[in-house]
Amino acid sequence: MRPSIRVFDTAEEVAEAAALAIAERVALRAREGERTSIVLAGGTTPRLAYERLATKAVPFSSIDFYFGDERAVPPDDPASNYRMAKEALFDRVGVAPTAVRRMRAEAADLDAAAAEYEALLPLAVDLLLLGMGEDGHTASLFPGADSLTERQRRVVSVVGPKHPPRRLTITPPVLDSARSTLVLVSGRGKAEALARAIDGPFEPHLTPIQLALSEAAIAPTRVGAAIVLTDREAAQSLRRIS
Ligand code: 6PG
Repeated sequence: MRPSIRVFDTAEEVAEAAALAIAERVALRAREGERTSIVLAGGTTPRLAYERLATKAVPFSSIDFYFGDERAVPPDDPASNYRMAKEALFDRVGVAPTAVRRMRAEAADLDAAAAEYEALLPLAVDLLLLGMGEDGHTASLFPGADSLTERQRRVVSVVGPKHPPRRLTITPPVLDSARSTLVLVSGRGKAEALARAIDGPFEPHLTPIQLALSEAAIAPTRVGAAIVLTDREAAQSLRRIS
């Protein structure tokens, strides 16, 4: 089951499409009386999507927010993914603090913070949002990292090559069990990694985002293949668009 790839002219259109997809899924579940668990990604492309989502008529009170990774900084630090989401979305739509499960990556004991978060994370999140770095990383799963082969723990502490280096991140079992996955990619700097991820051999130790895109990631809980929303710049090296 290949990922579905949708190409847009600009990063802003990617963000708008992501916001509409999120809004639609949340509203559908809310009409059925269901809450929606969403795992948020960090990064500039996801941020644009959160800002667009804040303009949509969504039952935000039906969402439980989680994070796919967090940098080892205080929650009010400019590098914090929580702070980014708070500014881009939570504060704009009045999300109750109780609906946001923040990773306590500022803790001195990151391994304890990882275990604490794992206990909060649903066994199968409804919607997993992911970005992708120019090296093909996603969340804080970086090329060549031991975390790429973690099959027991669902949240671990890592030291990565992207500043700030110390982080908490979800692991492959969380990618596998997500009911639906939306990958947001934009900019020419991502073109080579995206082409490797989509058209290249399955080598997640080189291109970790493949863990979220591959058929191996199809757990019984998944409701469909991952959806990649990308712009023309990032898609320029793709051989084929499904
Ligand atoms: C992080 C993010 C990371 C991000 C990608 C894409 O905390 O660094 O979770 O995985 O999603 O690096 O970021 P950009 O969209 O800013 O390139």
